[in-house]
Amino acid sequence: MCFIVNRLKPALAYTLCLQTTGHLRKVPAHMGPGLLTSKQPLESVIIRPYCARMELGKGPFFRQLFESVSSTYTYLLADTESREAVLIDPVLETVDRDLKLVEELGFNLKVAVNTHCHADHITGTGQLKNRLFGMKSAISKHSGASADILLSEGDKISFGKHYLTVRETPGHTDGCVTLVTGDQSMAFTGDTLLIRGCGRTDFQQGCSRRLYESVHQKIFTLPPQCLVFPAHDYKGQTASTVGEERRFNPRLTKSVEEFVDIMTNLNLPKPAKIDIAVPANLVCGLHEV
Ligand SMILES: [Fe+2]
Repeated sequence: MCFIVNRLKPALAYTLCLQTTGHLRKVPAHMGPGLLTSKQPLESVIIRPYCARMELGKGPFFRQLFESVSSTYTYLLADTESREAVLIDPVLETVDRDLKLVEELGFNLKVAVNTHCHADHITGTGQLKNRLFGMKSAISKHSGASADILLSEGDKISFGKHYLTVRETPGHTDGCVTLVTGDQSMAFTGDTLLIRGCGRTDFQQGCSRRLYESVHQKIFTLPPQCLVFPAHDYKGQTASTVGEERRFNPRLTKSVEEFVDIMTNLNLPKPAKIDIAVPANLVCGLHEV
């Protein structure tokens, strides 16, 4: 495995070697100094894998990507043996970046899945379909949007030996889903649950009571150590856990009545792109193609 990845960029090669072999390792001398800021000799420096999952060496390849205008996270998951990959919530403006990464890493992107019909940005799914032969789009059957795969509760999105399970979590929109890895170590919560927050419920079939029930029944019942990866963050945070949100989420730790009251009085401005984004996202972002 390592000899194959050594042909790739040094940082990637190192990461994949760690993923395969697990645990802390000395930096191999041939990886070059690009990885290091220290002037210490390479062989004396220990670098940690960037997340504990990689240390375990069992989970799928995982990469969090960011689009700064809408503060949207896109997630790339892949099986490093079969090379099959899934992209969650791609954004139109970052399709080139995402495709380049997929190509560099030698992945075969099987599915681009949206956690819901977004109002703040246009999905990159349609562009990806145009440029990647055979790639399928997926979204909830309750979203009202067209896609190759219409998802329902309990459906599985497979990539190699890994899969994501669909949990329907309506409330922000009717068609919101949370995607959970097979081992329940990661949950991609879309706009249903954000870090110390949640998606708004004042448009697009929004219903705060439904969102509250979705979070409590479908997300807070996951293991407390399960990592929460939302569709957005506006304060620079990248991940949370179910346990943290159960304890510290300022809205969802309240009673349902208090929650409804908070959501009713948010008085947020209308998203700038809603009139363009929603119609476009109902057809995979391909409205003008
Ligand atoms: Fe949204």
